[in-house]
Amino acid sequence: MREGATMVGNIGSAALAEARAYERHMESFIADDDRPAFHLTPRVGWMNDPNGFSYHDGRYHLFYQYNPYKAKWAAMHWGHAVSDDLLTWEYLPVALAPDAPYDDLSGCFSGSALTLPDGRHLLMYTGVAAGGRKPDGDVRDHQCQCVAIGNGVEYVKYEGNPVISDGDLPEGASTEHFRDPKVWQDADGSYHCVVASMARDGNGQILHYRSGDCLNWEYVGVLAANDGSYGTMWECPDLFGLDGEDVLLVSPMFMLPEGHDFYSGNGTLCIIGSVDPQTGAFEGRTYRTIDHGIDFYATQTVLTPDGRRVMIAWMQNWDSISESTVHRWFGQMTVPRELHVRDGRLVQWPIRELDERRRNHVEYHDVAIEGTTELDGVRGRVADLLVNVRAADPDNPYQEFVIWFAQDERFHCSLRYRPVNGTLKINRIHAGSRRAYVHHRKCDVPGAPTELSLRLVLDKRSVEVFINGGEQTMTMTIPTDLSADAITFFSKGGVVMDVEKYDLA
Ligand code: FRU
Repeated sequence: MREGATMVGNIGSAALAEARAYERHMESFIADDDRPAFHLTPRVGWMNDPNGFSYHDGRYHLFYQYNPYKAKWAAMHWGHAVSDDLLTWEYLPVALAPDAPYDDLSGCFSGSALTLPDGRHLLMYTGVAAGGRKPDGDVRDHQCQCVAIGNGVEYVKYEGNPVISDGDLPEGASTEHFRDPKVWQDADGSYHCVVASMARDGNGQILHYRSGDCLNWEYVGVLAANDGSYGTMWECPDLFGLDGEDVLLVSPMFMLPEGHDFYSGNGTLCIIGSVDPQTGAFEGRTYRTIDHGIDFYATQTVLTPDGRRVMIAWMQNWDSISESTVHRWFGQMTVPRELHVRDGRLVQWPIRELDERRRNHVEYHDVAIEGTTELDGVRGRVADLLVNVRAADPDNPYQEFVIWFAQDERFHCSLRYRPVNGTLKINRIHAGSRRAYVHHRKCDVPGAPTELSLRLVLDKRSVEVFINGGEQTMTMTIPTDLSADAITFFSKGGVVMDVEKYDLA
């Protein structure tokens, strides 16, 4: 901290007070029923990335990229919610507004949080300010890293902001694309953060910084660089150790498609490998998409007090946001997912707290189907559905197995598995959208097995599919009216399935 520096900042700033008054007033126009049952939505207006996901003072805190004034991206604030179980969220007043004249008047972009030794809560975020004009006359952004410190409700921006800026960048790195600090404390007490940056060649790189106090930061080096294989700029980095491996998560922009593994547009990437203790460089061994569905971006993880690594993401994607909202809010988070590394793969599973929400258990075993089948008690849009399917005759595999859901006479979504080529396809073409954006995606199930297990977590306007115990996932929002709640099974060729279904409270 600079000599004599104090924390001054946005308490009482007109912008923050106005945003707080606005969200308090407007939230009363949103009925609880208009929100998902257990997925976090913005208090009002627009939400994108999860920010500051942390366990502080006995509760989980989740902040989010937030424009309270409109269900459209603009002037980023940090919305704020707290929870005891990661499923029931209570809104707290918006935590940060873009109100610091030199650092963040154009937005408080994504970042993270931790608890300082004295018990205060530190937020580290990207300040975006105007940085001159581009040749075409547009304003060029200037991005730098800032901190705000608080008590879990009120946060004060540090007078010495920015704490990491132009002078802390390696040669050639962009000052316009430098964002999304993820901060953590190592066992030896030192603080570290990784920040997304654009290198001279236009590709993303992840920079590593170190600090003794979270205020004075020293540049360590380039942790990982994109050689152009995975999109261009990388956003929202996160680095952690898990099950004996090092895991780097990033969200690449402008991807090119590659089989069914990666699709064009904004994607997500999990790199499993190890950080070389000598060079500090991350050596990646496997590069995989984090979620094969449509609406998933900008992951962030937290370590829970009982040692679980839990990931959450924006259940949306920049390439599929053209659906206009029917609510006064837009955007929601995924269900928090417990992570593991198994056989070189990131495995995801809904947090175990979700099991406590299960009601009205229905279970079927060894149901033989060929053609279309409905099962008594198996329907709903806020539901947990577990299906295990296998060939009725192992010597004579089936051609396809389909689950239709969010279905009525006119609309449906589907999951279609074809064991011949091992592809699973998620589809919302007939889900009621009148817009021509991405409506289906495929993924390859390794080994193309004839036995497949699927878990579908439905929460009104979304589905999250966990394949084979969470080895792969597919996440998708659903535009269909909630009255479309039928679930139907179909097979071409004989299959046998076990089905377990719960309503989720
Ligand atoms: C990712 C992202 C971040 C940025 C934020 C702005 O979705 O583009 O890189 O900080 O959104 O809202």
